[in-house]
Amino acid sequence: MFKNDTLTGKTILVTGGGSGLGLAMAKGFSSLGAKVAICGRNEDRLKSAAETIGASGNPVYTASVDVRDYEAVSAMMDRIESDFGALNGLVNNAAGNFLFPSEDLSPNAFKTVVDIVLHGTFNCTQQFGKRLIDSGNSGTILNIVTTYTQTGSAFVMPSACAKAGVLAMTNSLAAEWAEYNIRVNSIAPGPFPTEGAWTRLMPDPKIEEAYLKKIPAGRYGEHDELANLAVFLMSDLSPYITGECVTIDGGESLMAGQFNSLMQIAPRKQLKGFFQMMKPKK
Ligand code: COA
Repeated sequence: MFKNDTLTGKTILVTGGGSGLGLAMAKGFSSLGAKVAICGRNEDRLKSAAETIGASGNPVYTASVDVRDYEAVSAMMDRIESDFGALNGLVNNAAGNFLFPSEDLSPNAFKTVVDIVLHGTFNCTQQFGKRLIDSGNSGTILNIVTTYTQTGSAFVMPSACAKAGVLAMTNSLAAEWAEYNIRVNSIAPGPFPTEGAWTRLMPDPKIEEAYLKKIPAGRYGEHDELANLAVFLMSDLSPYITGECVTIDGGESLMAGQFNSLMQIAPRKQLKGFFQMMKPKK
């Protein structure tokens, strides 16, 4: 799909790049010529991810950090710049989420998710942006949000609040930093199975089965599909796209359409039979 040098000349930091979708994107970037840095809290996971990513032959850097810690993020950015090279791409992927009734959340549970998702994105984005603006170099930021930033969602209220904030940050900075040649976009992924998300968000096979029925495409997303979209938005193939949020969910978020649920009630052949019966006879 892409030429092998699509991302040559890019040095991209992926937060939470040691596993799941962060790792999938990091692999995708590296396979197309980028130098990739990954950061996260678990050093062992980062080292093992770096081996997989480095199979491309391109340089990989790992940095152990908690994105909630502004000073630690700043120090990490300095280390990356001196040991690996100046960054010109940032993917804010690190997240925290779990299912829980909102009335029973502890204040610290709410704060923890908002700290990781919203403050963590701010910490990385501002530190990255400052350095680009000071150097006069152009750059690209990609924020991983969710499809429920607009609608909210039961049982993941802290995540919905935090991701809605990240979307607002995306759009605010897309306008504010366009003059510095910094593009800021987001991707709203629907259901892409990862160990981290599935253990936290799919507690039971029956729930998973019901969930799958809600997806018009009839399947979950594949990691490469998300990685390809991320490559496009991080590359020079999309120089005029900024402030955009691209949904990639097999149509799941459109299921609010009033009669869409008919598709869940009966197979298409049976539905067609009903519709024929309802058609006025001539
Ligand atoms: N349900 C309800 N509350 C929860 C919870 C859950 N599943 N998991 C943690 N909490 C609460 C804790 O009880 C604690 O609150 P308290 O101090 O009032 O008891 C607070 O959240 C912080 O938990 P803690 O485990 O100390 O935080 P942490 O920083 O170690 O971990 C999490 C952060 C909770 C988000 C953890 O799930 C995590 O590390 N996630 C990273 C990966 C991830 O979530 N990816 C997203 C996949 S969709």
